[in-house]
Amino acid sequence: MQTRDKLVIHGASPLNGTVGVSGAKNSVLKLMGAAILTDAPIELRNVPQLADVKVMTEVLRHLGAKVTQQDDVMVIESKEINRTEASYELVSKMRASFIVLGALLGRYHEARVSLPGGCSIGKRGVDLHIKGLQALGADIQINQGYVEATAPRLEGRDILLDTPSVGATENIMLAAVLAEGVTVISNAAQEPEIVDLANFLNAIGADISGAGSTEIIINGVRKEDLHGTSYTIMPDRIEAATFMIAAAGTRGNVLLDNIIPGHLNSVIRKLEDVGAEIVLEAPNAIRVIGKEQYEAQNLVTQPYPGFPTDVQAPFMALLSIADGVSIVTETLYENRFKQIGELNRMGAKIHQEGDIAVVTGVPALMGAQVKCSDLRAGAALIIAGLQAEGVTEISELQHIDRGYECIVEKLTQLGASIERVTIDEEPAAQEALPVN
Ligand code: EPZ
Repeated sequence: MQTRDKLVIHGASPLNGTVGVSGAKNSVLKLMGAAILTDAPIELRNVPQLADVKVMTEVLRHLGAKVTQQDDVMVIESKEINRTEASYELVSKMRASFIVLGALLGRYHEARVSLPGGCSIGKRGVDLHIKGLQALGADIQINQGYVEATAPRLEGRDILLDTPSVGATENIMLAAVLAEGVTVISNAAQEPEIVDLANFLNAIGADISGAGSTEIIINGVRKEDLHGTSYTIMPDRIEAATFMIAAAGTRGNVLLDNIIPGHLNSVIRKLEDVGAEIVLEAPNAIRVIGKEQYEAQNLVTQPYPGFPTDVQAPFMALLSIADGVSIVTETLYENRFKQIGELNRMGAKIHQEGDIAVVTGVPALMGAQVKCSDLRAGAALIIAGLQAEGVTEISELQHIDRGYECIVEKLTQLGASIERVTIDEEPAAQEALPVN
């Protein structure tokens, strides 16, 4: 829901201390969708408190599942699913809810799920999801903005993705778990969240190998083979990257705990290239030690294991104060440079030409009033505000609420001067576009 709250940041002071990273948004949402493959209760641990998790809870409840949550432990029971439809009202709030398509089709042989449509960062088609499910034998019609899918029988197939889409890989995996025979997904997405989903599915009785590589093999099992489990969600690598950049950008010294450093290799490399010091202090903890001055670096976003598009905007905030000219190329989304105008309002010198941004480093940013346009652009503005001299006021916080658990509390604990000012007024007229 849109909010009129604001973040007020008094910047230019270093972050210091230890921060624990929360469970991964982009994993938990898919595991919640996957939970409806079985009647047995599923316990998810390390579940972050996020607006997007609330939306997914609503989606599952709408289908008839029982979802309860206490602190970071969620229990999902799907034995009373009585609907196979996810409405426009729900899917348009959050694109990730489209994941129920594959799970419903696999388990109930039918699904009617609203097309997510475009969103603020790009067109983001679902053609690869649909082609993959069709290859498994689903009959799919697009009717009045809905994907209407039926599949009395799903059969394993070899599926080659045109591009390694995360969501398409996940939707196909979910449908293939209960298909007859073997499905092989080639040119599959290799993101750690795919591995988390495969590990979870195997924990409930699926038979999946190869996740994390470009070829995933799913041996279909019977629905009687699936059972409950208790599963801990992986740490959020994008949240971790955001704190790492904030630590470097404020010339601080921060230990990040509860992370998987191997998930962050491309970000660590880029931080080292600009001049920050990164120390592996434990198998699940790294320290970021900031430097007085950073050097410009070029950046190209790529599917994993390349540099993540979700970290492009936050990293741009750091490049904006690096010495020299950085070229940032965004290859995944056509509209993911919306932070530029706002960073420029804070004194950055960034010029966009299509999918390329030319960042000419300035000695310092200045506080200003700015607006979030999407989740990661919002993260970039927080980092910019922490780096900047003076006061930054950030509005449109509903975007940040989707993906950063307790961000004000965590930054305050690191010594930041950041406050959320609540403004009680009637809800604003327009709902935000879906992003994730
Ligand atoms: C996931 O989105 C993430 N969201 C995104 O995180 C992330 O940016 C993205 O993967 C890439 O890493 C969630 O996991 C909820 P894709 P997803 O399918 O699955 C094109 C964040 O900030 N494509 O891998 O939707 C698409 O347009 C968010 O947390 C098609 O053309 O991403 C894009 O250019 C934002 N047709 C590219 O592929 C399709 O059928 C990659 O998209 C599917 C995708």
